[in-house]
Parts: sequence; C-alpha cells; structure tokens
Amino acid sequence: MNILVFGASSSIGASVAESFSAGNKMFLTGRNVSGLKTAAQRCRRAGASDVVEMAWDLGKGSGDLGEEVVRWRPDIIVNAASASSRLRDNGIAAEELEKIVSADLTAPLDVIRAVLSNRRGGQIGIVYISSFLSVVLSPDRAIYGALKRIHEKVLLGMAASQPEVRLMIVRISGRISTEGESSEARRLGAAVLDGYQRGEKTMYHGVSGKLGMLLFYVQPVLFVLGVKLSRLVR
Ligand SMILES: NC(=O)c1ccc[n+]([C@@H]2O[C@H](COP(=O)([O-])OP(=O)(O)OC[C@H]3O[C@@H](n4cnc5c(N)ncnc54)[C@H](OP(=O)(O)O)[C@@H]3O)[C@@H](O)[C@H]2O)c1
Repeated sequence: MNILVFGASSSIGASVAESFSAGNKMFLTGRNVSGLKTAAQRCRRAGASDVVEMAWDLGKGSGDLGEEVVRWRPDIIVNAASASSRLRDNGIAAEELEKIVSADLTAPLDVIRAVLSNRRGGQIGIVYISSFLSVVLSPDRAIYGALKRIHEKVLLGMAASQPEVRLMIVRISGRISTEGESSEARRLGAAVLDGYQRGEKTMYHGVSGKLGMLLFYVQPVLFVLGVKLSRLVR
C-alpha cells in the first residue's frame, strides 16, 4: 500500500509512519528536512519497501505537494501535522492566523479532497491525529482545540458522504514527548496501527487526559483549576 504521512518530521508522525511501514511505500512530508530524513530511516528499518520525502510548508497551501501526492496515489493518509500544537491562544498573532489555518486545516484537507476526486476506485484510509482538546475546552488552548474540532468535523462529513473513505480519529489526551524517538510516541504509533487494523473509528490515547475529560464534564471549574495547576508545576 501507499501511505502518506503529514507531519512525519514530528516524534508522533515519525512513530506512526514507522508502525505503518512494513511492506508499504511511504510518502513523508513536513518542513524540517533532517526530521524527515530521520523518519525515513526509521521507516526503512521497519521494512518500508520505498520511502519518498518531500519538504513542504503547508502554511502556503497544498500547491506542488498536492499535485505530487495525487500522482503518487496514496491508499492511506495519516495527518499528524499541526502548526498550532505548541501554541497557546495568546501566542497566536492575528497576522499568523492565515498560515496556521492553512497548515492545520485547509491545505491537508485540499490534498485529501484532490486524492479522493482522482482515485480510481478502492478505499482511502484517513488517520487524523487529533487531541482531546477538540472536545474539551482547555484554558488558553481554544484556537488549537477549535482547529482540531473543525478538522474532525470536515473529515466526518467526508466519511459520511463518501463510503470509500475509512476514517479513524485519534484523540491524544495527556502529553507525549515531542523530542526524538520517545517510547511513548512509539507506543502511540503501535496503538494507532492496531486501532486502524481493528477498524476503530475514534480512538483515545492517554489515561490522564481521559480523567481530565471526565472531570471537564462533571466539574468544569475543577478541570480548569487542575489544568492551570499542572502548568504551574511543569
Ligand atoms: N505531543 C502531544 O502530547 C500531543 C497531544 C495531542 C495531540 N498531538 C498532535 O499530534 C501531532 C504531532 O504533534 P507533536 O506534539 O509531535 O508536535 P510537533 O512536534 O509540533 O509536530 C507538529 C508537526 O506538524 C508539522 N508542521 C507544523 N507546521 C507545519 C507547516 N506549516 N507545514 C508542514 N508541516 C508542519 C511539523 O513539521 P515541521 O516542523 O517539519 O514543519 C511537525 O511534523 C499534532 O497534530 C498534535 O496536535 C500531540
């Protein structure tokens, strides 16, 4: 199979790419060239039959990347890219918003739409790496959570109207190290592959976030206090 991974230069994206590699052709994209090379090595070690890397800034739209991907014909698209994943609301300047919306929403969705309209039959798998903040309103993370929520909703709409789309949303709860080849990211990669093979539609990963989610629904005020306290001690 041909597997495209957005955000493959991240620890999470590279781990998911590695998990899906055995016997498959991989197309890895992100901006950071050395991060992509490291991810490509991991995929080869894990048994990928071919690995293509393409550095691309989704903040400027889908452009050449979209055309290249359509020609390459992916069977599964994994999206782990996010320009806002490390940003609090007050760290997002109005003038940056257009690029962030492009990277987090419009450019990857444009690529997916182009792939779907050019496919020659068969199923297209979509794995969207999301966050539990798409359902829970965390202090100072409203913009990131809203972008994740909108992205999920658009994909759910595509899956509802196009039976050939097989969608799995992965809501990560809790923090996973973003540095290098962390064991948590590897565990997540393996869990994502397992969930996809079992045909899961929505997958939650991380115990602390699940507890947080429960608290959010039962005691939202305590949830907000808990988040603020945990940020103070971090
Ligand atoms: N770490 C966690 O605990 C956690 C929790 C919940 C959800 N997530 C989700 O997991 C995914 C990976 O996150 P991470 O924590 O590993 O964060 P990260 O290191 O910040 O990764 C973000 C990824 O998105 C790519 N990206 C960002 N802006 C881009 C742009 N303009 N064009 C193309 N690619 C771009 C980055 O690649 P380049 O820098 O190479 O461009 C990188 O591969 C994200 O979707 C994040 O929301 C992570």
